Amino acid sequence: MSDVVAIKDQVEAAVRAALTEVLPAELAGADPVVRRSDRADFQADGTLAVARKAGRAPRDIGADVAVRLHGFAAEVSGPGFLNVTVPDAAVWSAVAARLADARLGLATPHDGERVVVDYSAPNVAKEMHVGHLRSSVIGDALVRVLGHLGARVTRQNHIGDWGTQFGMLIQYLEEHPEVSWKGQGAETMSALDSLYKAARAAFEADPAFADRSRARVVALQSGDDATLTVWRDLVAESEKAFETVYRRLGVLLDGGDFDGESRYNDALPAVVADLLASGIATESDGAVVTFTDGVTGPDGDPVPLIVRKKDGGFGYAATDLATIRLRVEHYRADRILYVVDARQALHFRMVFDTARRAGWLPAAVDAEHVPFGTVLGTDGRPFKTRSGRTVRLADLLDDAEAAVRTVLAGRAHGFTDAELDAVVHAAAIAAIKYADLSTTRTRDYVFDVEQMVATTGDTGVYLQYAHARVRSILRRAGATAVGHVDTTLPLHEAEKALALTLDGFEATLRDVAGTLEPHRLCGYLYDLATAFTRFYDACPVLRADDDAVRTNRLALCDLTGRTLATGLDLLGIPAPERM
Ligand code: ARG
Repeated sequence: MSDVVAIKDQVEAAVRAALTEVLPAELAGADPVVRRSDRADFQADGTLAVARKAGRAPRDIGADVAVRLHGFAAEVSGPGFLNVTVPDAAVWSAVAARLADARLGLATPHDGERVVVDYSAPNVAKEMHVGHLRSSVIGDALVRVLGHLGARVTRQNHIGDWGTQFGMLIQYLEEHPEVSWKGQGAETMSALDSLYKAARAAFEADPAFADRSRARVVALQSGDDATLTVWRDLVAESEKAFETVYRRLGVLLDGGDFDGESRYNDALPAVVADLLASGIATESDGAVVTFTDGVTGPDGDPVPLIVRKKDGGFGYAATDLATIRLRVEHYRADRILYVVDARQALHFRMVFDTARRAGWLPAAVDAEHVPFGTVLGTDGRPFKTRSGRTVRLADLLDDAEAAVRTVLAGRAHGFTDAELDAVVHAAAIAAIKYADLSTTRTRDYVFDVEQMVATTGDTGVYLQYAHARVRSILRRAGATAVGHVDTTLPLHEAEKALALTLDGFEATLRDVAGTLEPHRLCGYLYDLATAFTRFYDACPVLRADDDAVRTNRLALCDLTGRTLATGLDLLGIPAPERM
């Protein structure tokens, strides 16, 4: 594996070095502020800010820098910024170097960083809903991008597998042996969901059953064997069902990643005791709570974080505090991400604040809530089925597959039935994941299957088509088509635009890893597909009249195909050879 220094980074380094030569020593190393430009290959604005500080005219500094710039041509423009042009040979060299590397020359800037990502987190005996879908899809993309940039990522699926609701479920099962819920394959989750609803109804309607359920909670907490056996069954069946969904959706989470709330149960008394001992938590009205500076309710009163409830039970906050302790002490995390919907922002703000003050979250460790918006129906309201039920993930996939099948039915594809099934499945995954990932994370988005499966416009299916088109060009060119890149050939303007876009892949991934915003990668891949289309329209590849030109253009095709496939993979989206 050999890293390739991106052309933009080379330009930045060259402008920085020239600026340092020109400026007084105390301004050395000033930011050259380089970006892509329509008028040249790159524009460097750094001369402007620095001229003011140096007390010189920006155009003068620009002119001084331009003559000292190594490796690139530059010209002063406007008020004194630089238009930088990259020599064609440098562009071809970058293409050749990336093609020669299995990782496309990408560096690993997050090497050695330990990141824990808490995501998906559905609840036992309950159907996963679209909120869990968002967490799973976004979390998975972040896991993949960070991992690709060298981070050591631990996936944790903090499922809701503990709490008073289990008293009611287990008691109901005990009293209704006729209820069948085990081993029903794809239907297990629905059966469990119905069981949950029946138990809840009985709990609300029948005070005697409610009392027996409460006694059952006590039995569960005190480790009663028979009760624990049923609890374990409920958890195991649910986990199996979750894993089925992850596999179908192409989400990396598997059995080894479950990190349920129950795992932290034994650590909760110490969380409370330590917080009380250090004076961070106080007793209020029988409950144990902490407060965070500046967090007040609509009435202006401080909002408490409830660590232990009045009845002695532990709150969701206590468990999350315990996760932090384990993730820092045991997993030695440098960065902990919680991919949980935006409505829990206050909860995490208070949990992180409490953990910081308790010394469980050292300043060197980042804890970030990665919030996301709500999925809406086409009516603009939170997404529900017509009967008002929460939407099942499995149904969404079924709907997307049906829609893709309709789109493909209208095309002459020449697939066998099995090939068609595979393509339909891949496209349905692309449709669902890309629609989710391409929206700014914190915004709500409308779940609109028809729009998601469109083969044109900014959709995952379009990107899969773009990739398949590149692969088809390469197939037609023949197996040995991609050969030695001739770096002495002049670049066509559309070739250069494509090559410079390809060169920006690493910067995009760094940006996603920093901001935790996968839509930036979606936008990049869409721009890449667009740049490829412009190139292909302007530059004949298979019919190029010169062999060397053809070889160089095929190299651009190959690098485009591999970049699209890698980028889609980092979004968790497959890239079929043919569509
Ligand atoms: N199980 C919770 C839910 O379905 C989400 C848990 C999120 N993770 C966490 N560490 N709090 O709403």
